[in-house]
Amino acid sequence: MQTLTAPRSAHQADAIASRLIAARRRVLGLVADVAEADLERVHSPLMSPLVWDLGHIAAFADLWLSRREDAPPPLRPELFALYDATETPRAERGTLPMLRTEEALAYMAAIHDRTLEALAHADFGPAAAPLDRDGLMFGLIAEHEEQHTETMLQCLQLAAPGTYAPRTPVELQPVARGIARVEAGHHRIGAVRGFSYDNERPAHRRELPAFGIHRAPVSNGEWRVFVEEGGYRDPRWWTAEGWAWRATNAIERPQFWAEDLRSSRVFDAERPLVDGAPVLHVSAHEADAFAHWAGARLPTEFEWEAAARAGALDGVGQVWEWTASEFAGYPGFVAYPYPEYSAVFFGGGYRVLRGASWASSPGTHRLSFRNWDHPQRRQIFAGVRLATPEEDR
Ligand code: AVJ
Ligand code: FE
Repeated sequence: MQTLTAPRSAHQADAIASRLIAARRRVLGLVADVAEADLERVHSPLMSPLVWDLGHIAAFADLWLSRREDAPPPLRPELFALYDATETPRAERGTLPMLRTEEALAYMAAIHDRTLEALAHADFGPAAAPLDRDGLMFGLIAEHEEQHTETMLQCLQLAAPGTYAPRTPVELQPVARGIARVEAGHHRIGAVRGFSYDNERPAHRRELPAFGIHRAPVSNGEWRVFVEEGGYRDPRWWTAEGWAWRATNAIERPQFWAEDLRSSRVFDAERPLVDGAPVLHVSAHEADAFAHWAGARLPTEFEWEAAARAGALDGVGQVWEWTASEFAGYPGFVAYPYPEYSAVFFGGGYRVLRGASWASSPGTHRLSFRNWDHPQRRQIFAGVRLATPEEDR
């Protein structure tokens, strides 16, 4: 048995170590490019100060490492409440007595070393403790840090110009248009192997009627027509909730678009909008309105996954894609290892986004991955993909 399981474990451990190291390089790269005062200030009520993310990354790993069997006690348990996302809403995090930048970075470094050290001695085989099986706990720590890198980038995009300039400019690529047809059938949904969150399990089959889905996400050029034809002024296209949100917030175009609809602000620079590239920074309300105006609809998250597995989608991984589905557990869902990741959000009116964005780490690029947010949020790197109307199934 040893000879069979040891090499597999070693391979998994190497892969996770590479992810942890790459995630850390990415976070530190961001930190290096932002002034300390800008790491410590609140840029938007929607986001934590960046330095909160730093302490939270370390505290999260510190906590979960200590929960492994026979693990040493945590390094700084007194910080856990401060960095518990469920205890303090983002908007209040500016007032917490959190670690300053230098101290947060030192905590991160210490826990990173602990993580790699524990990983080097871990056994992921079938006899391992549940938290270690298939490297679950280490996969969780790596993926959590990867996700917070994207959260930090959302915050930096909301921040005033001058806060952050990416070293390589973000340029979304045009995607060729077309409509793919996915036949009716029992489609496989969810995660089977490799790291996954509880919300991606259990894998199961869903019966779906035939449907059409656009090969490309909705583009900037298409969205401009919607704006120019008065889409934001016509309640016919909007849900009642969406229209109320639009009116209250005077929403007239995607977030960060210039008034002339020709450029958008990307971090600190105004950049021309590439007509064929996916639209970015729209809410689910805007996505719904656009789809209605276009005589289409948003795919359900199950249609999205079935189409992605069938190879019917192009351009996945540039922008998150809003779906019509509300975030909920799959049949037979079991919260594990921590209910605060997904379960507390089920039934809370959150909409599912599928795919990944240019800001997502490669580890998160899997077809079963489910992201979610409130339908009015636009700080996510999110766009839209259309499905054909029900009557054209
Ligand atoms: C999956 C992006 C909705 O940011 O709330 C990070 C990811 N959860 N730490 C979030 C997450 C805990 C989560 N999203
Ligand atoms: Fe987190």
